Amino acid sequence: MSTKKRTAILISGRGSNMKSLVEASRTADYPAEIVLVASNRPEAPGIGWAEKQGLRTAVVDHKQFPSREAFESRLQTVLDEHGVELVALAGFMRLMTPAFVERWRDRMINIHPSLLPSFKGLHTHERALAAGVKIAGCTVHFVRAEMDEGPIIAQAAVPVFPTDSPDTLAARVLEAEHRVYPAALRLVAAGGIQFGVQKVTINQHSGGTDTLFSPAI
Ligand code: GAR
Repeated sequence: MSTKKRTAILISGRGSNMKSLVEASRTADYPAEIVLVASNRPEAPGIGWAEKQGLRTAVVDHKQFPSREAFESRLQTVLDEHGVELVALAGFMRLMTPAFVERWRDRMINIHPSLLPSFKGLHTHERALAAGVKIAGCTVHFVRAEMDEGPIIAQAAVPVFPTDSPDTLAARVLEAEHRVYPAALRLVAAGGIQFGVQKVTINQHSGGTDTLFSPAI
């Protein structure tokens, strides 16, 4: 029997981070297996890609449910049906209730396109440029009830150039996202994390940590 962690990826849109996780998971020694790709938006382009790859997919359209709780209850059922052990949010643009987050505590991770705790929320790149930061980046973290909060697993930094627009910066950060998210999921699925009160530390023997903390180049 496979010892790989049964992992669901939740998306709302394009799904480029999902693709990077799916591609990484095809490596023989990768410790996570993608058993489900689910979207809260039926029109998410990523779900079509996942279907073509022969992955199990589900759409749980939040608009069809009277409350956040009802939506999450259905989502939970779908996750249970697929025996999911880990959840990776990849451009999943929906806040979860504290009860759902607690249920998945330390088993649900997210990627955000900023160096948290800076620039939580939407329009990250616009705000980073407006603030005049010289380094931007992305963060993979465990999900907690507050938006874009939670123990940080991995970060990658990229330079910000004076000529950058939100789009050019987003593209540079996205490249970093595609490197760092597969590395972070690998670490979490392999159990290479120790939990502290506010933070996590990476077990010494985990190896390959370079990708988890990439400086700006
Ligand atoms: C990514 O940049 C991801 O970091 C961001 O949405 C984009 C999704 O792109 N997520 C958030 O802002 C979450 N707060 P993708 O669908 O191509 O992976």
